[in-house]
Amino acid sequence: MAAQFSRAVVMLLLLFFMALIPLSCAAGMSISRQRLEVQKYLKRLNKPAVKSIQSPDGDIIDCVRMSHQPAFDHPFLKTHKIQMRPNFHPEGLLVSSKPQERLNSVSQLWHLNGRCPEGTIPIRRTKNDDVLRASSAKRYGMKKRRTIPQPRSVDPDLINESGHQHAIAYVEGDKYYGAKATINVWEPQIEQPNEFSLSQLWILGGSFGEDLNSIEAGWQVSPDLYGDNNTRLFTYWTSDAYQGTGCYNLLCSGFIQINSEIAMGASIYPISGYRGSQYDISILVWKDPKEGHWWMQFGNDHVLGYWPSFLFSYLADSASMIEWGGEVVNSEPDGEHTSTQMGSGHFPEEGFGKASYFRNIRIVDDSNNLRAPKGIGTFTEKSNCYDVQNGNNGDWGNYFYYGGPGKNPNCP
Ligand SMILES: *[C@@H]1O[C@H](CO)[C@@H](O)[C@H](O)[C@H]1NC(C)=O
Ligand SMILES: *[C@@H]1O[C@H](CO)[C@@H](O)[C@H](O)[C@H]1NC(C)=O
Repeated sequence: MAAQFSRAVVMLLLLFFMALIPLSCAAGMSISRQRLEVQKYLKRLNKPAVKSIQSPDGDIIDCVRMSHQPAFDHPFLKTHKIQMRPNFHPEGLLVSSKPQERLNSVSQLWHLNGRCPEGTIPIRRTKNDDVLRASSAKRYGMKKRRTIPQPRSVDPDLINESGHQHAIAYVEGDKYYGAKATINVWEPQIEQPNEFSLSQLWILGGSFGEDLNSIEAGWQVSPDLYGDNNTRLFTYWTSDAYQGTGCYNLLCSGFIQINSEIAMGASIYPISGYRGSQYDISILVWKDPKEGHWWMQFGNDHVLGYWPSFLFSYLADSASMIEWGGEVVNSEPDGEHTSTQMGSGHFPEEGFGKASYFRNIRIVDDSNNLRAPKGIGTFTEKSNCYDVQNGNNGDWGNYFYYGGPGKNPNCP
């Protein structure tokens, strides 16, 4: 039902843009007409702001009343009562951060120019150019359609997916109710605007056919989506293998945000430097055992909000696989491997301060406890291009280094 409804919303959007595309193609129809249609779309997407903050990176952050956020365009959410806190937290609510973690605390660039008032949530404003840049306007904010390959036990979703390359750690074969990781933050270089580089965790449910359920969160550099090369906090969800439902950030109805400090899709600041200061972000996603919603926390004390349980089929129960790591698009410019970087752009062997890491990776088990994952596997399509190496020690628990430069003499 839920999936059908979100599909209906997407279909409406599709119809809208199908009407739009012939307009832009037909002789005599002006660009300004197309712009007018985009304006209409943006008017629906961008909610009225109580206050707007100009970020140094060119973004505008709109402080939108919590009850006016995009989620409430969803027919199933019209009468939904916002939950202002989770019923349950696998670490206990409001864990005080250790002094050492506060030192290198990571924030968002737009904070330099202001904050949103209580009762509002910060939303990155979508601009004309964001929509016009999308390869197809009707899929703005959605992932590019992916060919879902045959199921394989190693990594069914991801193997040989056209042009996408990964260096990941994963667990499967159990029921999972959440995952956590602390992720080193870098600004990898992207060779072509239609490529991206991201570092994230995946909460996956179901078969890897047409109805894959996925919740994803981490950081990404995506010139197509944002119009620049900045490293941005992002989330993604789908309940049908990236076909009809789901989107990045708050670009469709789904995620309900309750936090007034962190904007999805906004630039993260500061960024780690090679042989320089290192910064990382913690992300925790967990399922509330009472309501079944999937909650997300950024850092040690920013509970951002939740994906309502009804958005999903398999994830309405539990996840069957967790993955952590990097993904890039290799569009093979000039028939050679892309030089788009993953992580820091350096191989795992280089270690701390040079290669990018995930540390303290954990899962939430069926007793709702955060635990070290058992039986961690690693996977990469081409280790000469991007690699992954995992390890374990006292401070970092289960960790791995990952990434690489892409094109190099061993990865032509
Ligand atoms: C990807 O596909 C190619 C050709 O079909 C095959 O040779 C290769 O082994 C596949 N890679 C993986 C990791 O399965
Ligand atoms: C992003 O980086 C690429 C090369 O890494 C560069 O060609 C492009 O101009 C940059 N884009 C922006 C908007 O800065």
